Amino acid sequence: MIEERFEAIFSAAPAISGFTPGRVNLIGEHTDYNGGMVLPTALPLGISLALSPRTDGEIHIWSDKFDDIAIRSLSDKASDHWSDYIVGAVILAREQGYLQNGLNVAARTTLPFGAGISSSAAVTVGILKLARDLAKDKTSDKDIAVLARRVENEFIGMPCGIMDQMAVAIASPGQALALNTETLGYELVDLPTDYHMAVIHSGQFRQLNEGRYKERKEECDAVKAALGHDNICQISDAEFASLSSLPDVLQRRARHCMTDHRRTIDAIACLKDKGFTKLGKLMNESHISMRDDFEITVPKVDRLVEDAVKLGALGARQTGGGFGGCIVACISNDKLKTWKNELLSSHPESFWVS
Ligand code: GLA
Repeated sequence: MIEERFEAIFSAAPAISGFTPGRVNLIGEHTDYNGGMVLPTALPLGISLALSPRTDGEIHIWSDKFDDIAIRSLSDKASDHWSDYIVGAVILAREQGYLQNGLNVAARTTLPFGAGISSSAAVTVGILKLARDLAKDKTSDKDIAVLARRVENEFIGMPCGIMDQMAVAIASPGQALALNTETLGYELVDLPTDYHMAVIHSGQFRQLNEGRYKERKEECDAVKAALGHDNICQISDAEFASLSSLPDVLQRRARHCMTDHRRTIDAIACLKDKGFTKLGKLMNESHISMRDDFEITVPKVDRLVEDAVKLGALGARQTGGGFGGCIVACISNDKLKTWKNELLSSHPESFWVS
């Protein structure tokens, strides 16, 4: 229990504790900073946090993943240290008036890092929600998600969209969050009960702040400048054709945003109508678009996706920011066990996540 761990480390019971899930995105990738739809769901895995306010300006952080206790301060900047996300969230929580001073924090996570399943959003949303609740503040979960995105954009310097924070702040397992990232309007849609959305790590770990995510964001900014507005996802076919004088690479980036947004709308309809075969097809098409147009997949992930489908999944695709991490596959419950064994044994570096 995280509360007991906290007490053993800080010699007093925590003031508050809670659990925030990770997320897996079913479809709609890199659409969330381009005005489009996304369709993530919460995982049963996540991060447990326990915390208590301090009377000085220090932030002491214990995590089950690291040996030392990080001692940071409210005046710190990001320093490429594992504790940065917590520090950024604590600083913002204080700016919001949820905290007067620093914080003691204990964290235990079941989310693998660098997997594309939002361990960073889970920790920032988790800290901000608990600090809000401690202060008995009425900020909504949606506004907490918006604050958590600021931690990534402003403190960490990672120009991510809003999907992960909204997913972990609002979704729960068994339901997908059909989110319009332009308006932040959303709907919760039931996931099938006779199919499993399997999450498998490719064994290829990656870090998004290492630059390639930023590169895609900059390419999309160049498309936005050419369009004269910020919504690449919702352009018409005619507007897409008007981009023909742009370099081929930018046209392909735009095509991915436009088509993955459209596929996401279709996928939401499939979930509602129980059209799971079509849902699988959309997932496969999304992977191809990420591979060929957005160029964010790697060969190891491509092979895993290909075999996931060959071995019986209705559809499979890389999930999250890209360049490694996890795939998500839609597989019927009755085939799940054999499929899982065959897939994992033919990809020895891959491992089961959820
Ligand atoms: C990362 C980012 C999200 C989103 C995805 C790609 O997870 O944090 O905002 O852009 O990549 O869909």
